[in-house]
Amino acid sequence: MLTATSLQRQLLKWFDQYGRKNLPWQANKTPYRVWVAEIMLQQTQVATVIPYYLRFMTTFPTLQHLANAPLDTVLHLWTGLGYYSRAKNLHRTANMIMQEYNGHFPDHLEQLTTLPGIGTSTAGAILACAFNRKATILDGNVKRVLTRLYGIENPINDKKTQTQLWEIAKQLTPTKRIADYTQAMMDLGATVCTRRKPTCKACPLHKNCIANKNDLTLQIPYKTREKPKPIKQTGFLILQYKQEILLERRVMKGVWQGLWSFPETKVPITLSKLKKALQAEFNNIAIYTTHMLPTFRRTFSHYHLDITPIHLTITKRSNKKIAKEQQIWYSLQSETSIGLPKPVKQLLDQLL
Ligand code: ADE
Repeated sequence: MLTATSLQRQLLKWFDQYGRKNLPWQANKTPYRVWVAEIMLQQTQVATVIPYYLRFMTTFPTLQHLANAPLDTVLHLWTGLGYYSRAKNLHRTANMIMQEYNGHFPDHLEQLTTLPGIGTSTAGAILACAFNRKATILDGNVKRVLTRLYGIENPINDKKTQTQLWEIAKQLTPTKRIADYTQAMMDLGATVCTRRKPTCKACPLHKNCIANKNDLTLQIPYKTREKPKPIKQTGFLILQYKQEILLERRVMKGVWQGLWSFPETKVPITLSKLKKALQAEFNNIAIYTTHMLPTFRRTFSHYHLDITPIHLTITKRSNKKIAKEQQIWYSLQSETSIGLPKPVKQLLDQLL
């Protein structure tokens, strides 16, 4: 069987030739820059992250810039990237580091994992990549590499499998070249040992890979079948007055927390019922046209959401009732610096 030393040697040799060395967060490495990258990369692929990362770094070049910014500006830069709690956690963590650590990024695992949004693997990546400290990561890519390499056929999300994988990952972690090793593991998972089309011939570890030997590469990692997700429905009320659209800030609960979205209504609903409800909610509005748009689906971790947009143009609005504190009339012509969920942004772009 492969020893830790020989795995490290083969992997690092592969990394020197094929590893990624020009990713934006690999230049001018600071804990801040590495941390932001790791958070963006938690649920999003490298190619998608890069333009967001570059914009983020231009707007917030330092931890201090991020901590001092309004949350809305942070959310605005996150529009379209998804999993918005990451943006909120970044902002909160930046403020916590300013206050509790005097602006110095903590460099111990125990400190890092108390910060919002930083789990053990992300903390490991920050320690290894930014501080060159011996630390272990175990993200989705690395889990795939290790389950295949060791031919682990137990379901990947079982607690026992997770414990086993952490043990293996720790035991394989080298003392030297820790940043390169960490990047190499991630790169191998992302570019060679991919989920659907692994290129085993290009893998430096394929001779030692049990999944490869037993022709199980596409079966591993095993997953227990997920329960089907429930389907929820909602109607987006796109209330348009001239070139302005009514948006309201979502509560700090559920999906899209703190982002700006359309008021919602139960669906299905008849247009006459809807008009009545709107008159009651916003007295004095005069509805001119109503138009149902095609329903589309967004999928979250726990459910599907079928969204039916209903476009209503109004000719009169009551300023008193509409545009209370958590509502704004969003101008279609001038982009306001607020966070918008991707489907909301797409619908607003369509209206232009
Ligand atoms: N995925 C998670 N972290 C990464 C990193 N530092 N580089 C490339 N892909 C990653």
